[in-house]
Amino acid sequence: ERSLQRADAFLQRSLVTEAVSAEDEAARKLDPGVNGRKSLRSLQQERREQAERSVLVSCGSTTERKFLKFLSRHGDVSKCFFYESYGVYAVVEFSGRDGVASLLEAASIPSASHEATLPFKSRLLSFRTLGAGGPAAPAGLKLQPQTAVPINELIQRLSRQDSIDQQVSSLVEAYQLTEENIRLRFLVCSLLKDVAAAYFPECSVKPFGSSVNGFGKLGCDLDMFLDLDGLSGLDVKPPKSGPSLEFQMKRASSERAVTQSVLSVVGECVDQFAPGCVGVQKILNARCPLVRFAHQPSGFQCDLTANNRVAMKSTELLYLFGELDPRVRALVFTVRCWARAHGVTSSIPGAWISNFSLTVMVLFFLQRRSPALLPTLDRLRELAGPADRSVLDGSDCSFTSDFGRIGPGTNTETAEQLLVAFFDFYSSFPFSRASISIRKGREQSKPEVAPLHIQNPFETSLNVSKNVNASQLDRFVALCQESSWLLQQRETVTPGGGNAPAPWGLAALLQPSQVAGIKTRKRRRTEPASQRIKSLLESLKNQNHQKKS
Ligand code: GTP
Ligand code: MG
Repeated sequence: ERSLQRADAFLQRSLVTEAVSAEDEAARKLDPGVNGRKSLRSLQQERREQAERSVLVSCGSTTERKFLKFLSRHGDVSKCFFYESYGVYAVVEFSGRDGVASLLEAASIPSASHEATLPFKSRLLSFRTLGAGGPAAPAGLKLQPQTAVPINELIQRLSRQDSIDQQVSSLVEAYQLTEENIRLRFLVCSLLKDVAAAYFPECSVKPFGSSVNGFGKLGCDLDMFLDLDGLSGLDVKPPKSGPSLEFQMKRASSERAVTQSVLSVVGECVDQFAPGCVGVQKILNARCPLVRFAHQPSGFQCDLTANNRVAMKSTELLYLFGELDPRVRALVFTVRCWARAHGVTSSIPGAWISNFSLTVMVLFFLQRRSPALLPTLDRLRELAGPADRSVLDGSDCSFTSDFGRIGPGTNTETAEQLLVAFFDFYSSFPFSRASISIRKGREQSKPEVAPLHIQNPFETSLNVSKNVNASQLDRFVALCQESSWLLQQRETVTPGGGNAPAPWGLAALLQPSQVAGIKTRKRRRTEPASQRIKSLLESLKNQNHQKKS
């Protein structure tokens, strides 16, 4: 009876929380730049702590009430939501870790009649109800979507908006990660941490890249960083005189070799023992060694790296830029979506522009506005306090994480004006001689002959887009010219009426290219086989260089 009351109280509370979070959301929209902006580090810590109090449960046929009643016997549930991925799953967050402990204590090990189970317990569980027949999917559960709407549906949705500014907000709304999806990402990291902890009890696993930089689209991959820097004893300095102790440790020839060994055993462990992790590939000879796999219960494609602190820094930087002004995320989402719709970017690594490079191009453009919409990285470094100082692999990666130190800008352009200006800017950018540098916020002369040169913000001698070939850059420029032209045509920029209005404004830009000269990827199939094989080899060659260049 008591647990039933607790379950009911939870259901009631979640209605209230839903109302409150809708209010918060409204407040965030009204005043996006001032309130509640936390540094990525403190946000990550909060989320990690939440995830440690959570479990992931595959639900058989049940009702929300029955499920919650069962869980409430073990502790106070502070959040619970359901979603579908090869079956229905629930993310359950307890208000304390003892809830998880009690639940795990009560869980049994499956008895498999024809198979044997590997004795590895995790926080991925299955909920069974004895004698329950009926459909596998529980009826009446509210399922939270974890994937983005298909592009055609998005085009229709945008066509119904009254202005391009509204279309841009609508696109961000439809594509950005939801609260639930972010929780699920942190939970998967936390589950992975338990696996890696079999070897490294003091490790942590942190998401980076678009899962946390504010620019992630529902369905994007989950980039994870296995962090061993928290190892206790790392900061303990042996005394200058007198007795002291140190650990005996194996040594390897280089940091890279250490990273490879760590990822090799953790990858093996994920492959052999981690439930739900399939298709594990160890890609240890890449410039940035990684373990790639699919986490079936969440549906995430995962990349696990180690010793990748510079990528963590770029994530913090992108997050900071995205939080500085809502127009930054608006433009990055729009340009990323536009680029994907036209095959400028792809989920397969190759000679095309990566989402990361494209984002840096948008940031650079925003620094070049007059007045500038974003500060340069050099300026952010000047504003850095002592706690922000960081030198990684010999590169100065310091920049402020304090929003208060960066004053508000004076640029008042609308999202629409910025979008038009973006296409104009890159329609006539002197790619042949200039390099893009968000550190300086102005064009630099190109130090090497790559078609597209985007300076790595932290390792400034590197080009983050050295994989891009001339034909991909030409396509990008031609598409910018076409989109800029389209946005100046009356018929494409005026909304139509009716129930199913014709695509206009941004919706028109997302439709297949109109210009005959712009080849789409599909048309490449008509190339002679030798040409296709050549491009394939080229893309494989570049694959290893894509990450951490
Ligand atoms: P998605 O396409 O949505 O996954 O965007 P993403 O930003 O997560 O990109 P990706 O998964 O390719 O890479 C994850 C993170 O690694 C990025 O956010 C960057 O911080 C870093 N990264 C990716 N590619 C490069 C690169 O070419 N050079 C450098 N320096 N860092 C990169
Ligand atoms: Mg990613």
